Amino acid sequence: MKPFLIAPSILSADFARLGEDVEKVLAAGADVVHFDVMDNHYVPNLTFGPMICEALRKYGITAPIDVHLMVKPVDDLIEKFADAGASFISFHPEASEHIDRSLQLIIDKGCKPGLVFNPATPLHYLDHVMDKLHHILIMSVNPGFGGQKFIPTTLDKVRAVKQRVEESGYDIRIEIDGGVKVDNIRAIAEAGADMFVAGSAIFSQDDYSDVITQMRNELAM
Ligand code: DX5
Ligand code: ZN
Repeated sequence: MKPFLIAPSILSADFARLGEDVEKVLAAGADVVHFDVMDNHYVPNLTFGPMICEALRKYGITAPIDVHLMVKPVDDLIEKFADAGASFISFHPEASEHIDRSLQLIIDKGCKPGLVFNPATPLHYLDHVMDKLHHILIMSVNPGFGGQKFIPTTLDKVRAVKQRVEESGYDIRIEIDGGVKVDNIRAIAEAGADMFVAGSAIFSQDDYSDVITQMRNELAM
């Protein structure tokens, strides 16, 4: 069993004080910085690009930065985010013309690749690429916005992915993203996830450490 990773989504952080807010959430016990990149084309919202990733690195953030690309096409931004200091980079397979090539590009740029599945995206995109994956990200909301409600049927999808990972024999993390809270994180872990993105659940609280500790307590039970 891999150590659980808590990955706050900076989509819900204070953009006017982003460096400080990211520092604060890491000091509160977060493991990974989740970076939601939206292009107002693949998803109906617009966020931030590689400049912000680079700025966080220059500010002194050394924790892994987990870039979740909700963009189409993907390859140009893969290169730019890798150069900007990304650690993990994932994309939605239906947004790439050549999935294997995009995964290989992430590896060649020195980052760890992942594929992202929307609630209704079939898992067959995993066929033939399991050997390249560092993580599989299961969306438990439709992508585009923070603060949405967890879609319960995605737990079955996490279970199905867990089974595929076990059968493959590869060491692949299973990440969950959307509507993760203190009161559902344990059920999500039991289904097989080991990396947990949480935006509004953490950044809406004054005391980040309190909510992250509560999440870890749930995971330890
Ligand atoms: C949605 C993003 C998520 C989102 C999670 O498209 O990928 O990372 O910010 O936010 P919460 O935890 O508020 O659902
Ligand atoms: Zn995300």
